[in-house]
Amino acid sequence: MTNPPPPRRLVVLASGTGTTLEAVLAGASDTGFGARVVAVVADRADAPALDLARTAGVATAVVAPPDFADRDQWDAALARTVTSFSPDLVLMAGFMRLVGAPLLDAFDGRLVNTHPSLLPAFPGAHAVRDALAAGVKVTGCTVMLVDAGVDTGPVVAQEAVPVEDDDDEATLHERIKQVERVLVTRTVGRMARDGWTVTGRHVRLGPPQEET
Ligand code: GRF
Repeated sequence: MTNPPPPRRLVVLASGTGTTLEAVLAGASDTGFGARVVAVVADRADAPALDLARTAGVATAVVAPPDFADRDQWDAALARTVTSFSPDLVLMAGFMRLVGAPLLDAFDGRLVNTHPSLLPAFPGAHAVRDALAAGVKVTGCTVMLVDAGVDTGPVVAQEAVPVEDDDDEATLHERIKQVERVLVTRTVGRMARDGWTVTGRHVRLGPPQEET
């Protein structure tokens, strides 16, 4: 009986309530998930996600913009801090900052984000509000790789969520988050266990296919 490989090391970036992180922590506790959350890094010391991490016995770090002279120094500190935990995969789970070149260069292709719309529809910080304003009947959530743009990276996984006539931003976002936290946990687990390949805009989960 060969021993299973050690779980992949996952660092999660968060800014907010951390319900996405909570789902990933729960998923990672299942044997065979394939990844272990080794640290949670927040951009604010009062992020509730940090309390979830501490309760789970996971290392935490805060890299808050006001603590740095400028954006470049924050970007460099964020990259150093994340790198210090030696992640195989970095998940942005409600991290409300655009990340710069230091982190993108350090984890090119291994930086994953989640967004509450069916990208490329409704990128940016107000995806749920924008979907409501547009009057769409179906929206959803997207797990994607992070590139230098705003929510423009290649899509890894998506799931549709219906918009109800009486929805407001809060009710619709909560319905999306119910679906999103399952999608993120399932997708990150598959990436950790089976790997992924990126060809242009196309991401395929699973080990590299043999050249035929
Ligand atoms: C998620 O919908 C994520 O896509 C968006 O913010 C929400 C994070 O929620 N960027 P939480 O902080 O994980 O509860």
